[in-house]
Amino acid sequence: MENDDVRDSWDASAEAWVDFVRTGNDVTRDKLNNPAAFDLIGDVTGLTVLDVACGEGYNTRILARKGAEVTGVDFSSRLIRSAILEERKESLGIRYFISDVANLDGFSDDHYDLVSCFMALQDIENYNESVSEISRILKPRGRFVFSIPHPCFEKISVNGARIEASNRYFEETKYALNWDMERLSIPFRTISFHRTLTDYFNALNLAGLSVSRLIEPTLTMETARRFPLLKSILKRPQSVIIESFKDAKVRI
Ligand SMILES: C[S@@+](CC[C@H](N)C(=O)[O-])C[C@H]1O[C@@H](n2cnc3c(N)ncnc32)[C@H](O)[C@@H]1O
Repeated sequence: MENDDVRDSWDASAEAWVDFVRTGNDVTRDKLNNPAAFDLIGDVTGLTVLDVACGEGYNTRILARKGAEVTGVDFSSRLIRSAILEERKESLGIRYFISDVANLDGFSDDHYDLVSCFMALQDIENYNESVSEISRILKPRGRFVFSIPHPCFEKISVNGARIEASNRYFEETKYALNWDMERLSIPFRTISFHRTLTDYFNALNLAGLSVSRLIEPTLTMETARRFPLLKSILKRPQSVIIESFKDAKVRI
């Protein structure tokens, strides 16, 4: 399959990823992106939620603790295994499946109130097909909320050199991302894609999803002071979070 290399990179990185997110090292998630994303998502009590590309389930568990009826899918069997082991320790009623987001065949049309995709659409090779599948399984007026690294400010690797994506913004680029920050106990490497904001908007539009809100999360001075790692975010955004709704009459 075309995206086997992407899946293999996540399977190979599973142990390092779990260590990264569960040991308080993912400061950008905990202090910046999650507060903004969950504020935007609001009350999820009683909602049916599918968390796509859920990884080892960190945010899937947050949704379940907030009272949603949650299912998580990811195509990395090793990450899903890790999520299931965690569900056995803290039973939140989450169901996990191994699946490519671009093919959600086992999932019914018009079923979910909310689909979330936290910091993962940039890692999904077939993003048009994936957004179309997400729209299909959403109820009419259901919401799709996703976050991605900000395409205007992210750094990408080209021929081994790390460059600002803004220097070649209009070129879709598949690249190997080295997770080698000092705070990581185990460095790892995954495969990612640089695309433009227009690419993501067109994918939503084609799938009958209308954008309702867009957030570029920033910090309070107090958080920046406590977490110097995040200081640059006072000047430019690290991520963008987009909320869209399925048009009531859409037929995919
Ligand atoms: C940066 S991680 C984010 C994981 C999770 N959303 C979180 O917030 O911890 C990206 C995830 O996307 C998953 N992924 C990439 N392409 C996928 C695809 N086509 N179908 C399903 N999962 C995919 C990877 O396996 C990985 O778990």
